Amino acid sequence: MADGPVLARLHFGREDAERDVTEGLLLRGGFLPNAAYRAALSGRKMLIIGRKGSGKSAICMQLSADGGQHAGTVLVTPDETAGEEIRRFELQGLPGDSAKALIWRYVFAVHAARHLVTHAKDAHRRKPDSVKALARFLKQNGESAGGRLGDRLAQGARGLQTSLSLEAFGVRAGLDLAQAQAPSEGAQAARQLEVVEQGVAGAFADLGCAGGHGPLLVMVDQLEQVWSAEADSNSMVIGLLLAAKHAVSLYGGAVRFLLFLRADIYDSLSFGEGDKFRGDELRITWTEQALRDLALARARASAGAEMTAERLWAELFPAAVEGEETASYLFRRCLPRPRDAIQFLNLCQETAWLIHGRERITEADVLQAGRQFSDWKLKDLALEYLVAHPFLKHLFPLFQNTGYVVTRAVLGSRFDAAAESLHRLFPAYTDVLTLPGVIDVLYAVGFLGVRRGNDVVFAGGDDLPVQAHETEFHVHPCFRAALGATSAIDLRHFEPLGATTRVVQGGFHQYNDTGFASYPTRDHQLVQDLRRSCHSILAQTSRAVSLAQDARDEITRQINRVLDETSILLSGTASSFDLEDRLLVTTHYFDTLAAQLLASGLDGTTGAGDVVRRIEEEARRMRRRLGGSYGSSGSSAGS
Ligand SMILES: Nc1ncnc2c1ncn2[C@@H]1O[C@H](COP(=O)(O)OP(=O)(O)OP(=O)(O)O)[C@@H](O)[C@H]1O
Ligand SMILES: [Mg+2]
Repeated sequence: MADGPVLARLHFGREDAERDVTEGLLLRGGFLPNAAYRAALSGRKMLIIGRKGSGKSAICMQLSADGGQHAGTVLVTPDETAGEEIRRFELQGLPGDSAKALIWRYVFAVHAARHLVTHAKDAHRRKPDSVKALARFLKQNGESAGGRLGDRLAQGARGLQTSLSLEAFGVRAGLDLAQAQAPSEGAQAARQLEVVEQGVAGAFADLGCAGGHGPLLVMVDQLEQVWSAEADSNSMVIGLLLAAKHAVSLYGGAVRFLLFLRADIYDSLSFGEGDKFRGDELRITWTEQALRDLALARARASAGAEMTAERLWAELFPAAVEGEETASYLFRRCLPRPRDAIQFLNLCQETAWLIHGRERITEADVLQAGRQFSDWKLKDLALEYLVAHPFLKHLFPLFQNTGYVVTRAVLGSRFDAAAESLHRLFPAYTDVLTLPGVIDVLYAVGFLGVRRGNDVVFAGGDDLPVQAHETEFHVHPCFRAALGATSAIDLRHFEPLGATTRVVQGGFHQYNDTGFASYPTRDHQLVQDLRRSCHSILAQTSRAVSLAQDARDEITRQINRVLDETSILLSGTASSFDLEDRLLVTTHYFDTLAAQLLASGLDGTTGAGDVVRRIEEEARRMRRRLGGSYGSSGSSAGS
């Protein structure tokens, strides 16, 4: 075991699977076999769909490393040039999607052919004619060597558009074949491709690969590298889906395909055949428990096998942050995906060890890391959806420096104020840039959750989209710090007098030692009245069960601050003050509170109305009492 503090060794890995394999922990005990991995391994699902950072590439990497189960693995990751080739690929006489499907089918056929040539030698130790033919075909078309996908694609594309060398399959010239029976460029390419595909299928059959041993696994990842909102990009992905489906039926059990797609890309596709892929889809989801497991696995892999959950969460991390168990505090502030969890955890470790040179992470470190993390994630969210929802970043100001609970009505008025400039900036998106449209988008990307019963539901599982009757939304905890929206509702904080003075509990007995006259005095009575008012507001708040818990907590917190002050007033430890002035300030605070609650839109159905009325009533009562000291009737003041 290495020397030095454990915290120095603690590391949760790299935040992308590609680097996590080479410099991180992914293949060193850091991988967690999840449902998506099992589905991919068993071949039950072909489309693995997940948000950015949800672990698509990690599954690719793990499957590539698994070995054994498969006769071979091929990972296709298009780069700029490859994407450009595919996007530009067109064939006269064929609709875009079908043309793109042809080029993907060609890519698959060539990969399968290359696999077969080595596989026949290594695994079957024989070379049937069909395999020899493939080797010749690859050579004649310049496909034997590795080379960059983009360059090879360019070549293949030209071949399909004009003619491939098909002599290896006994077809004298691709062009002959084409001229004989194909009227259009598209049909000509399709005929040539069929010859190649038949050659590949024939070789698999001759070797008896299907069922004889594990299949060849062809994986396509990182399509987002070449993704843009243009129709060509759309066709490129749809073509890929169609090609994979075609190839599955053609090669039977000999080849298995796995396409890893970003959810924002997949969800933006629209094509007639879409319904045929539902059964092939698997969406990657992460629960808090899975993220805890991931954290522990990675802590073990970096800091030593003797690491336990108890040590991690009570010794290295503080046991609680802001009164909440640390792991739950952290994971509630991440979108549920491993990249976010890894980043947040590493940031806590770095804040404690690198910045402050500590050997344990403190609550302050977590809070500091949390602010930084929130900033990152707000920016990352806008980037993640830059193609699908380029306006996203411009919606964030609607939530800045206010409470994180927003009603539809309040959001509506904020949106109305911003709508014109949004429409001017994004004229192509005016149909989405409506209040319901914006709510749908913000919910779908995980920025807003919706209040359902006593829960707040964030997108992620199979939950319903936001329904028209739903009116209360909560900004995800991940983004609150960056937006300056850290309390539920935008309530002015009550600043107790002499907050720096130590509060002496049960200070009644010191009362006579202070400047006040006899006991009980009118002053004493006034403070007691204020306490009663506070308790009655608190009771009303706790009865408002349909009000969001966070909002209730916030009101309770502020009223408790008022109560704290009454203790100071009664103890007489506060520095000099004029009691009646002070009580007027408090009364005025109640008015503000009621007005802010109303402005938050949390009235009527949410039960805030009763709380507002109670606060107003108590303010009136206080004012009447205080008015008495000036000899007025008390009923004229402010009610
Ligand atoms: N099942 C898993 N077990 C352990 N670590 C995982 C798992 N899935 C993902 N990770 C880790 O989470 C991080 C993000 O995963 P990955 O890079 O695979 O995401 P991605 O979905 O490919 O994202 P992008 O869309 O940005 O490419 C990586 O560090 C990866 O190692
Ligand atoms: Mg990836």
